[in-house]
Amino acid sequence: MTPPANLIDGRAIAAQLQSELAQRIAALRVRGLRPGLAFVRVGEDPASKVYVGRKEKTSAQLGLHSETHVLPEATTEAELLALLARLNADARLHGILVQAPLPAHIRQPVIYAAVRPEKDVDGFHPMNVGKLMLGDPTGFQPCTPAGIRELLVRSQVATRGAEVVVLGRGNIVGKPMAALLCQKAPGANATVTLCHSATRDIAAHCRRADILIAAMGVPLFVRADMVRPGATVIDVGVNRVPDAAAPSGTKLVGDVDFVNVQPLAGRITPNPGGVGPMTIAMLMQNTVRAAERAVA
Ligand code: GUN
Repeated sequence: MTPPANLIDGRAIAAQLQSELAQRIAALRVRGLRPGLAFVRVGEDPASKVYVGRKEKTSAQLGLHSETHVLPEATTEAELLALLARLNADARLHGILVQAPLPAHIRQPVIYAAVRPEKDVDGFHPMNVGKLMLGDPTGFQPCTPAGIRELLVRSQVATRGAEVVVLGRGNIVGKPMAALLCQKAPGANATVTLCHSATRDIAAHCRRADILIAAMGVPLFVRADMVRPGATVIDVGVNRVPDAAAPSGTKLVGDVDFVNVQPLAGRITPNPGGVGPMTIAMLMQNTVRAAERAVA
């Protein structure tokens, strides 16, 4: 069956981005430099295993040096900080990514502040978060919001003056997404509303949106009656829900009721195959940028 014409194909756009990166990586090779990226995973969170696995695979496809450090759930904060100090000092590594979530006994802000800002390709260090708020382009932007912005730009979805409604105020997607799209910059310049669990009448906000970005982690939250016909809908959600028909007893669904929203949306991301591949592509882009800066 032909896919609906209004789909924003994240896989195709990510592949295009990666082929552009391949040229930059080749140029670095000529100068004797191979970009290097370290992954750190603590504990056995099943989703984190899958995500880090995908990031490793793309790193290998692009010919990056990558290494993964898997630490047991019982790892102390001091042990994790000691590993980060080693990775910070390792000249082969241009990027370091500590996969979230971390075990509850480890303070996430302490860990993210311990990654050298120049190697913080996740964009979670307070220095890079601050640069994002200030509109300073020398910082690293978090990969999922940066990937969504890139999806919009490359799909010719105009953001200037657009009403953007972001659902979810998390530090990984919602908050940085809002900060990115309200900047005075190309591919931004939007009027942004950030909705969250205490927002009154979320549906009314959603119906005003030219661009609706769902990143709250509530399965199938965005229904057809919450979407203005013709709006662009971006689904960031990855939610595991029970499914008696599946062999595993569960399936993954987004934050958007895709089946009912797709026919009336102007443009919409499929899920999977929308935002996810872009997050990985932007991580690769940040790592290549970090390596380019190391030789600049
Ligand atoms: N967990 C979910 N998304 C992300 C991400 O973009 N980076 C990291 N480090 N952890 C995550």
